Parts: sequence; structure tokens; C-alpha cells
Amino acid sequence: MSLKRHILDLRRRKQKVEKGGGETAIEKQAAMGKMTARERILYLLDDKSFSEYDLFVEHEGRDFGMDKKELHGDGVIIGTGTIYGSSVCIFAQDFTVAGGSLGLMHARKITKIMDHALKMRVPLIGINDSGGARIQEGVNSLAGYGEIFYRNTIASGVIPQISVILGPCAGGAVYSPALTDFVFVVDQISKMFITGPNVIKTVLGEEISMEDLGGARIHAEITGNAHFFAHSEQECFEQIKKLITFIPWHNDQKAKPFPPRDPKFEKNIEDIIPSDPRQPYDVRDVIKAIADDSDFFEIQELFAPNIVIGFGRMSGKTVGFVANQPLVLAGVLDCDSSDKAARFIRYCNAFDIPIITLEDMPGYLPGVDQEHAGVIRHGAKVLYAYSEATVPKITVILRKAYGGGYIAMNSRHLGADFMFAWPTAEIAVMGPEGAASIIFKKEIEEAIDPVKMKAIKVQEYIDRFANPYVAASKGYIDSVIEPKDTRAILLHALEVSSTKTELRPEKKHGIPPF
Ligand code: HXC
Repeated sequence: MSLKRHILDLRRRKQKVEKGGGETAIEKQAAMGKMTARERILYLLDDKSFSEYDLFVEHEGRDFGMDKKELHGDGVIIGTGTIYGSSVCIFAQDFTVAGGSLGLMHARKITKIMDHALKMRVPLIGINDSGGARIQEGVNSLAGYGEIFYRNTIASGVIPQISVILGPCAGGAVYSPALTDFVFVVDQISKMFITGPNVIKTVLGEEISMEDLGGARIHAEITGNAHFFAHSEQECFEQIKKLITFIPWHNDQKAKPFPPRDPKFEKNIEDIIPSDPRQPYDVRDVIKAIADDSDFFEIQELFAPNIVIGFGRMSGKTVGFVANQPLVLAGVLDCDSSDKAARFIRYCNAFDIPIITLEDMPGYLPGVDQEHAGVIRHGAKVLYAYSEATVPKITVILRKAYGGGYIAMNSRHLGADFMFAWPTAEIAVMGPEGAASIIFKKEIEEAIDPVKMKAIKVQEYIDRFANPYVAASKGYIDSVIEPKDTRAILLHALEVSSTKTELRPEKKHGIPPF
């Protein structure tokens, strides 16, 4: 055969396989408002950058009539490409081929691209759209999942791993995304659950829709499994591209720097905190007032909103922000916000991203519900994550820093490199109201006017303790600073700590309170 005919033959074969599960299945996919696996990859990656591997892989199922079925590419597309000119490895499950179900060869394709990503030290992006383990392939499918989970774990903290849920992600399939760093979901399209509604109905007799069981909102707001929520696949891909600009390609490299830019926030930083210390405010305004271009890329915005986490840049370099949010539950630490903060701190530490902590919170959330939900165990994760982190760690106490919260939010005592406080800071064992009613109980009770006496004693406590100067007099705070100087002081602290080296005792690994 001439070369020309070989080439024509190759093209014909490619065209056939690239059709995935065929026209009807593709139409069904479109009717559900979903792009195809190939469209998704092409949308996300730089134009003409996608290089596909294993296009001609076929499944090896032999039971239940599978030997007579052709499953193009075995229901998953893998390859490499670029985003903003930098390489990534990617896989996208093709729901039009056997529901994107995971058989042996499907899993082998995924593990091949995972191995490649780890060896080449580039981010891995996995687009999930699958009915889970391919039932006809039995234990081979389970083996495939196990081998994926193993690689997710080995690659954790070495390369960024991003999961995108664009359809069902059912059964064992959910655990690969859960092991990765960032999970993206799309409203009405993403569905994640271990056990589907049919099985729940059979076993428990309960009726529930897929959306109410594990839709995008459930995972973005309630379970915390999702880090980013979008209203369309296109919006989701733009979010991924933005995330990619903030993170390093691997753990031995910094994120690409951007040109430094001043904040462009319209509010004056001195007007953000209300003069009444009981009034809330949006801590994201403080971040916007200090970050380059006022650009703050928030993570898990809808989950545990009493703490705010995300990336920004200071003088063009990526930093991680962790900030109590006085707008929600006065910014307390509870089980969920502790988990959210601790995981992000560990991400920043693994990828050498400095952490800026903004503190304003009255402590850990009291109550039976929290105690029984394990606030001790969850809260300990924050202490562990901050103490463990060796990246530059800088704290600014904006207002309240009470009790356990003072210690937990990257205090000097957990190894903060720089501790700053605004003059509005109140650093004490507990809030003035509670403190005064305990230590001045007798005087208040015996006073002719207990209400007036309490007000006097509260003020006495505020004057004595609820300020930054007691902590500053002991060197626990390095400087009490004016809000308008915050950015300049942080930039200086980041510059000084850019060569930070902190060694720890050698060990296999610690045992965090998972
Ligand atoms: C084989 C599957 C499949 C699967 C879907 N298909 N899931 N084939 N194994 N797990 C096939 C269907 O037979 C169908 O094939 C095609 O994919 C499209 O599926 P539909 O049901 O027609 O689509 P839809 O109505 O949109 O429903 C999608 C779905 C549903 C919600 C995902 O298919 C479903 O509930 N599937 C099973 C989900 C599940 O319970 N998975 C857990 C597996 S056990 P045809 O040929 O008709 O087009 C597991 C354990 C692993 O994962 C544990 C590891 C730790």
C-alpha cells in the first residue's frame, strides 16, 4: 500500500474512533446540556495544543456480550496539551461510550496519563463523566480504581491534581476526585454519590433525586467536596484556567510571577472595620484592599463561609489568604471551617506558597452539636497545619483574637514569622462581656446598680486587655500598624521571608488529626 493510502486509512480510523459512542449518544449528551469529552478538552486547552494518546485502545471485556461490542477508546480520552502555554496532562471520560464506565483498559489509559504527569512534573486534570465501575468487567474495574487512587495519593503534594465533575461520578469514581486538590462542579450537571437513588430506594426505601442526593450545590455548600461552583461548563473551564495561573506546576517550582500591580479597590482600608466592634464587615474587602489588582480568587466560597480562603498576588507573586469572616457566625472556627482552613494551609505548604492570615474571630464555636461533631478533632487540624507549615507565615490581627482562636490563627506560638496587629485588635482569653461577668461576678452582683457596674467592669477589662499592646509588650506581636500601611508592611515581610529556611526533625510523616 502506498504511503498516501496508509495515511487515508489512518484518517478514516481516527474519524471513526473520534465519534465516540456515535451520533445518537452524542445527541443525548447534548440534550442534557453537556459538551462531549472531546469538546471539553479542546475548549479547555490552548488552541491546537492537544496531543492524544491511546486513541485506538479497545476494551477487553468478554462477559455479558461485551466481546461483541466496540467501545471506542474504551470511553476515555487522554493526552497532553497546554494552558497559557504551559503543559498539562488531561483525561476526559466519554459518557457516550458505555456511560464512561471504567473497565480495565479505560483505567490503564488514566493511570498511563497520571504516571506521565508525575514523571513530567506537570498538573493533571481529570474530567469525570461516568457511571462508575463497569459492571460487566467485575473485579478488573475495581482493580482499575484502586490503581488510580494509589497514584492520586503518590502524586499528592508533588503535582497539582484537578478534578472536574461534568456528569455522574458514581460509586467508586467519587474517591479519585476526593483525593485530588481541587474539585470543580457545574450546577445541574455534576452528580456525585457513592450509592445512587435506585439503590437507596431499594435498601432504605427512601426516594431522593440525584440532584438532592449529590448535585453540584450539595457538594459546594454542604459536604465541602467541591471547591469551585459554576453555572455552565464554559464558566467552569474559565475558573480552571484562572486557578492554573495562581499555582506552581509542581512542588519544586514557584507559580509564574505576574507583573506587580497596586490594588484598585475603591474603599479606603480604614473605613472597612465599623467603629462598633460588634458590627460585622466583609473580610474580603480587606483582602481586596491589600492584594495586587484587588484580585482575590476565592476557594470553597459556598462552604463554611465563616472562614475565607483563596489565592491572590502580592507584588506579582502568589500568596494564600486565610481570613476569618465576621459576616458569618462572627468568623468562629467550627468543624467545617477548621477542615477548610487546614487543608488549604497544607496545600500552600506543599506547593511553597506563603500564607497571609487575617484574624478577627471570637474563638471556637461553643455548643453540644459542635462538641459531638468533633470540634476538638477538627479544630486540632488547624493547629497542626499551621505548626507543620514551613512556608512564610504572616498574621495580621484586625480585631478580635480571643481564646483558642488567638492561638489557632497562626499565632507566634505556632511559628508565625511575622505578627502584626491593627490598633483595633483585641487580644484576650475571651470577649470582654463574658470575661467581666466571670472575674467581676461578685462586684456586679453586690452593686446597687448591677447593670451599670457590669458596664464599668467591661470597660475596665477592655482598657486592660482588649487591645494589642499587652501582647506587643511581650513580643507576641511584632508591630502594631496603621491599616493604611498593611500592604507595604506585608510586601516587606514577604520579601524578607523569600529565602526562609526552616528545618524540622526527620520523620517518615506526622500523624495529623484526620
Ligand atoms: C456499565 C454502564 C454503567 C456501569 C452506565 N452504563 N453505568 N455500563 N457499567 N457502571 C451504561 C448504560 O448501561 C448505558 O448503556 C449507558 O451507560 C448510558 O447509561 P444510562 O443509564 O442510559 O444513562 P442515564 O439514564 O443518563 O443514567 C446514568 C447513570 C446510570 C445515573 C450513571 O447509568 C447509573 O445509575 N449507572 C450505575 C451507577 C452506579 O451505581 N455505579 C456504581 C458502580 S459500582 P447503553 O448500552 O444502554 O447505552 C462502583 C464500585 C466501585 O463503582 C468501588 C471502587 C472503590
